[in-house]
Amino acid sequence: MRETYSVSLPKMNLAELTGRLIVIEGTDGVGRSTQTKLLRPWLEQQGHAVLDTGIKRSQLAAKGIQQAKEGHTLGRITLSLFYATDFADRLENEIVPALRAGFVVLTDRYIYSLMARAIVRGLDPAWIHNVHSFALKPDAIFYLRIGVDDLIPRVVFSNGFDYWESGMDLYPSEDMYESFRKYQTALLAQFDKMAQEYDFTVIDASPDIHTVFERLRSGISRVLKGEPREPLFAAPVPEVGVQDSGTTEVVSTGKANRP
Ligand SMILES: Nc1ncnc2c1ncn2[C@@H]1O[C@H](COP(=O)(O)OP(=O)(O)O)[C@@H](O)[C@H]1O
Ligand SMILES: [Mg+2]
Repeated sequence: MRETYSVSLPKMNLAELTGRLIVIEGTDGVGRSTQTKLLRPWLEQQGHAVLDTGIKRSQLAAKGIQQAKEGHTLGRITLSLFYATDFADRLENEIVPALRAGFVVLTDRYIYSLMARAIVRGLDPAWIHNVHSFALKPDAIFYLRIGVDDLIPRVVFSNGFDYWESGMDLYPSEDMYESFRKYQTALLAQFDKMAQEYDFTVIDASPDIHTVFERLRSGISRVLKGEPREPLFAAPVPEVGVQDSGTTEVVSTGKANRP
């Protein structure tokens, strides 16, 4: 039966939520939108009704978050709570109704990105986990994993560096490139930690778009058929000191440790 991480939103009957909740996670510019765009028609061709959703798309909070981000002045706690509000609104009004109707819900990011960003900004991990504890546990969390050196060209050759994606609020004295590198390195370390804690299915996002798509399709097919995941894609075990190493690329061992 479906579960939440702790508490439930009011009047939510978890037993009714018969659809499948599939999360695509990963850092800024890794290729989540690209893959979601490919996955939706593929799922629909197989006869699934699909809802695709993502952060900052709620009726309630999307516009306000956009305005707040343009100002660069909102405090870290307030911004985190604004994002949690956006998530709660989408959970209640989009995700839950779609799951009740038997849809495959494909979500571009979930609570893990929100928590990683907050923790990197110095908020208390226990507090931010607790803020999001009403979230439904997904059927699978596909983590598109990339090292910062592979990420940088991808971002440079698409939309370029953005103030928030570069963590300029954290490192205002650095230039955008240095800030991006530091901030993304810290974020990737948080994702790697969560990969263990929340049992992510790890997909190497460094190959070309088609290869990543093939791997995602294979993983999602298994989830939809109720088959166990391939051991290769279980979360890596972070090496000791990964957060101080300045790169996440060292985290590559232990892939076969989990079923
Ligand atoms: N596997 C890949 N290899 C090379 N470039 C990619 C890959 N996946 C995505 N891209 C490119 O990287 C950029 C960012 O991709 P996007 O899907 O918008 O990222 P996200 O939604 O994760 O921020 C786009 O220009 C996209 O075409
Ligand atoms: Mg995107």
